[in-house]
Amino acid sequence: MTDPTPPTILPASGRPADEVLADLTAKRSDDVRWADGRTFALVFDGGEDVRAVAEEAARLYLHENALNTLAFPSLGSIQSEICAWTADLLHGPEAAGFLTSGGTESILCAVLAARDRALAERGVTEPELVLPISAHAAFHKGAHMFGLRTRTIPVTDAWTTDLDAMADAVGSNTALVVASAPQYPQGIVDPVPEVAAMAADVGASCHVDACMGGFVLPFAEMDGRATQPWDFRVDGVTSISADLHKLGYAPKGVSVILHRTRRLRRYQTFDFDGWLAGRYITPNMQGTRSGLPMAAAWAVLQYLGVDGYRRLVRATLETADRIRAGVSAIDGLMVLGEPIHHLLAMSADPAEQDEATRIEPFSLGEAMASRGWHLDRQGPPPSLHMTVSAGNAKAVDEFVTDLTEAADEVRGGAAGETAQYATLE
Ligand SMILES: Cc1ncc(COP(=O)(O)O)c(C=O)c1O
Repeated sequence: MTDPTPPTILPASGRPADEVLADLTAKRSDDVRWADGRTFALVFDGGEDVRAVAEEAARLYLHENALNTLAFPSLGSIQSEICAWTADLLHGPEAAGFLTSGGTESILCAVLAARDRALAERGVTEPELVLPISAHAAFHKGAHMFGLRTRTIPVTDAWTTDLDAMADAVGSNTALVVASAPQYPQGIVDPVPEVAAMAADVGASCHVDACMGGFVLPFAEMDGRATQPWDFRVDGVTSISADLHKLGYAPKGVSVILHRTRRLRRYQTFDFDGWLAGRYITPNMQGTRSGLPMAAAWAVLQYLGVDGYRRLVRATLETADRIRAGVSAIDGLMVLGEPIHHLLAMSADPAEQDEATRIEPFSLGEAMASRGWHLDRQGPPPSLHMTVSAGNAKAVDEFVTDLTEAADEVRGGAAGETAQYATLE
């Protein structure tokens, strides 16, 4: 249990380090226990050895600041090397990019770059962002922050963007069109070639959000689990985000944003020369920038190499397949759509009309939580979301057994509570 009466003011005198660290350890007691493989998403565990490498690299770079890469040239080279390796994986021979603090920041950078490109190249003063309703909320955040109007497109029965509706929405004011590889809610890859072609037709940018898939899909393809083209091999794709702190197995705070060319990358940077402290150039939303996640990501990428990622991706996808098979074997429960990678959502089977045997997904989520599993509740439609990663492989048998048992327990019961990502307090 967390301390019921936390201090409301800073102690007048400092406390012994061991006491402070013991308190911090105690604070964690109610947090999810991700290391035992029972948490889906939030933490991505590549295994003890990967963690050890990341932790050593993090210790080396705990205090370094990437705000000034002239002072820390090592961080400049870490950034450009990671971007080059990622560009190679995503088949962008001329692609150039930066590291950001995460998927949201990469997406914000893509939105800003697209807006500024539309203004500079086409004189668009009322820019619009066209995106399917499945695209991550960070795009709406970007539109809100940078003054773009959003045009949200419905999805088809297969949970991919409705291309006809998208074609109707794309026009002369379009600055950015979005596709995901895969989208988060149901884990499905959008039809990127068609979306990118629509953007190219009007001279707009097309961003592929591969925050989830960027370090999975390339290795899945090497193992013969290809999806339709989605990366820089597709004409018209102008930028891609890929998160190292998700399935790249780096600690939190690092993502890659790549633009097809250096010229396109220029629209993302901020270069200001009117300040008493001199010229101020930043590549993303941050000022001071921790070197820790950048260096840890560099170390993890080097430590794993292509064969290490292939091994982790194989374990991840086999685990996701077993979970999908387990879900499908439970009466009244179904996987939404046909995801083939590491994300999935389970929901009540609409064919199950009988109130007495129906399974309410959120009640199932509560029953699983009481068994120590963390699954995000989402909707519409009410469903349980799972982002599977290699760390879940060790618990998959137990998961399927518990899910079957929990489904029987809640069958015919009332709906459970929905859950939010976070409160603002
Ligand atoms: C597809 C997709 N894009 C973007 C993001 C945002 O990433 P972050 O939470 O690192 O900001 C997520 C997060 O889950 C995601 O699933």
